[in-house]
Amino acid sequence: MSFIATRTFVAAAALMASVFAAPAMASSVNASDESTIEYRQNIMKTKGDQAAAIGQILALMVPPDNLISHFETMLQATRQSKVAFTPKVPGGESLPAVWENWADFSARLDKTEANLVKAIETAKRTGAGPGGLGEDAIEAMNSCKECHDIYRKKK
Ligand code: HEC
Repeated sequence: MSFIATRTFVAAAALMASVFAAPAMASSVNASDESTIEYRQNIMKTKGDQAAAIGQILALMVPPDNLISHFETMLQATRQSKVAFTPKVPGGESLPAVWENWADFSARLDKTEANLVKAIETAKRTGAGPGGLGEDAIEAMNSCKECHDIYRKKK
């Protein structure tokens, strides 16, 4: 067998292994509460990082060019968090109230989502930079603490 043929065989074997291993892996991952908690925490970390980056821009510490795209990333993470919090798995820093008051909790995420959509539209239309963010952007930024005060364990 030539070198190239050997490599092709090895690659094919690896592919087969991954195809056959996948279903078994998927079922064990789906069942894990730990994964559910870690997943929503990963998404919230994205929101935290974006909020920190926006804070740096508002403090005029860094160039403002990415301001709108930070809000867009925050919007995507907010949409992702609705899916990530849907399974009823208390733990991590989430209080059981998240699922006891699910209507209120999910309405808060909907509100943040709507605020971010409007904030992005306004910023695109007016070209507003760090100094000219409207009420929607401010509400979206305030929503974090408002929700954490009720639904997240105090450290
Ligand atoms: C509707 C409620 C709600 C809103 C709105 C919300 N959060 Fe959270 N957040 C939570 C909950 C609940 C947790 C705890 C998740 C867990 O550990 O199970 C959390 C956790 C976090 C964490 C910790 C993630 C980790 O484990 O390291 C960060 C960072 C965070 N949120 C940032 C934000 C930012 C920034 C915003 C606003 C842009 C925001 N959150 C808006 C409910 C919310």
